[in-house]
Amino acid sequence: MSKLMKPQIAPSVLSADFSQLGAQIDSIVEAGGEVLHLDIMDGHYVPNLTFGPMVVKAIRKMTDMLLEAHLMISEPDKYLKKFISAGADIVLVHASTCASVTDTLDNIHALGAKAGLVVNPDEDLTIVKPYLEQMDQLLIMSVFPGFGGQTFIPGVLDHLPKLLPLLHEHKILVEIDGGINLHTLPGLNRFGIDRFVAGSAVFNASATPKENFLNLLTQISHK
Ligand code: DX5
Ligand code: ZN
Repeated sequence: MSKLMKPQIAPSVLSADFSQLGAQIDSIVEAGGEVLHLDIMDGHYVPNLTFGPMVVKAIRKMTDMLLEAHLMISEPDKYLKKFISAGADIVLVHASTCASVTDTLDNIHALGAKAGLVVNPDEDLTIVKPYLEQMDQLLIMSVFPGFGGQTFIPGVLDHLPKLLPLLHEHKILVEIDGGINLHTLPGLNRFGIDRFVAGSAVFNASATPKENFLNLLTQISHK
């Protein structure tokens, strides 16, 4: 892994019970959670629709955790200011949604947040190479964006080992999103991933978010 930190679990509130969101977030805080992953979908870039800056603002009031906004929306530039003003600390965008990736990453930084690029399972990881200087984070999708609870797609990390030295050189945090659970996590430890997004494996009926979070942590080997 990078020298930045111990690997983390970032719960995605996409699978949370929004009628009890405050309590669910508190449960994550009790477990020692440091980052929340917020999946923003517009029903256009992806077929699903979730929430916007108003809900980010409400979540900001509930917790001091780092908030990362994963924007699965068309024309993200129009909304960067709204999400960052609402409290997003990190903004992650898909390159294909940006008129100019360089400008979008610059704009996110100018607004005071950290910036990252997201790579879909059918995209080549090397598409991020021109932007390494401007990136704080790389999010690798291990499902196609749009829905929680999908099955991990093997092979999305095949090209990570050869890119990892460059990512480390630029102190870029490496994150993976989709299908992360007790079964898939153990096989991912060898890739040097810093942050694992987990939605349905954290927020489900079988245990509290705290219990699920702590169980997932046991599957990460802190090297
Ligand atoms: C998918 C989202 C993911 C999703 C992960 O478009 O980006 O963050 O919530 O959910 P699980 O962990 O259930 O695959
Ligand atoms: Zn996500």
